[in-house]
Amino acid sequence: PEPLRVGVAGLGTVGASVVRVLTEKADEIASKAGRPVVVTAVSARDRNRARGIDLSNAAWHVDPSQLARSNEVDLVVELIGGAEGAARACVETAIESGRHVVTANKALLAKHGLAIAKAAEEAGVAVGFEAAVAGGIPIVKTLREGLAGNRISRVFGILNGTCNYILTRMEKEKLGFAECLADAQRLGYAEADPTFDIGGFDAAHKLALLATLAFGVEVDADGIYVEGIASITPLDLEMAEELGFRVKLLGVATRTETGVEQRVHPAMLPKDSAIARVDGVTNAVEIDGDIVGALILAGPGAGGDATASAVIADIVDVARGLRLPVFGVPAKSLAAPTRAPMATH
Ligand code: HSE
Repeated sequence: PEPLRVGVAGLGTVGASVVRVLTEKADEIASKAGRPVVVTAVSARDRNRARGIDLSNAAWHVDPSQLARSNEVDLVVELIGGAEGAARACVETAIESGRHVVTANKALLAKHGLAIAKAAEEAGVAVGFEAAVAGGIPIVKTLREGLAGNRISRVFGILNGTCNYILTRMEKEKLGFAECLADAQRLGYAEADPTFDIGGFDAAHKLALLATLAFGVEVDADGIYVEGIASITPLDLEMAEELGFRVKLLGVATRTETGVEQRVHPAMLPKDSAIARVDGVTNAVEIDGDIVGALILAGPGAGGDATASAVIADIVDVARGLRLPVFGVPAKSLAAPTRAPMATH
C-alpha cells in the first residue's frame, strides 16, 4: 500500500518526540495503520539544533506554510503553537491545498476552530486534535466516538499539567511558586509563554474544545470565566489541607437550562475525591453522560512523549482512512452558544 507521507511543522518537545516515535516504532505503526507512515518533510527555524532525531530523509522547510502545500506530504502535523501567525497560516494552507491536519494547538482551535472545521469538512480533509486536550488522555475520541450515544451534562477536571505539577509540589514539598514553574518549564510541560498555563488560559482553551465536543455547540472560549493560580501561596494550600481539602485548578463545562456554563478557576475539593487525588503533571477529566453515568479518565497531561502518543493516534486514524466531522457533528450544524449565568457554588 501507498505510504502516508507526513510533514511535521515545529520540532520542539512534542515535534521531536513524534518524529522519534514514528521512526522507532515504524513497523508497529504501519501494521496498525495498514500502510507505512513516513516523515517526508519537517519545518523549524533552526536546522542545526541537536534534537536527537534522524532527519536525513526529510525535506527541510523554513516556512511551515511551504511545507503545508508541498507535494511531498499528505498530512501536516502542526506543532508550532499560537492562535495566529505561522501556525494558523500552516493549518489553513494545508486544508486549502487538500492536506489532512493533525494539531496539538488548542489556542488556535479555541479561537478559529469553527472556521477551521468548516473549511476542512468542505475540503474533505481530516483535522485531528486529540493532542490539543489533556496531553496523552484520549479525551477527544472518548467524547466524539466512545460516548456518541450519550447526552453529556457536564465535563470537568484538571486540564493543565503545569498548574497541577506546581500546586502538587508547593503543597507536598513546600516549594515556592517560581521554582516549581521553572522545573515545569525544564521538563517541557509549560507553554512557550507560561502565562497561558498559570493564568488559566490554556485550561480555558481546552475546556472550550471539550464543551463543543460534549454539547454540540460552537467553540466559545470568550465566554469562559477564567482565573489562574498565580496568587495561590503555600499557606493557602496548608489551610485548605487542614480543613480537609486540596486546591486544584479546575475547568468546568455544564449544560444548564439556560445554556452552557464554562469556567476555569482554583477550587477546593474534598481530599478523598477522585480528582483531588490527582498529582503532578497528570490531568483528569470526569464526564457525566445520561447512559454511561460518570466516568473519569486520568493520565499524563503534558510532556513530549505523552502528547506524541495522542498525535500519533490521530495520524493512524488518517492513515486508516477515517474522516470524521472535526467536532463529531458537521461544523455547520453546531448550535450557536448560549452562555448561562455563572452559578455561585
Ligand atoms: N502546557 C500544557 C500543560 C501542555 O501544562 O498542560 C499540554 O497542553
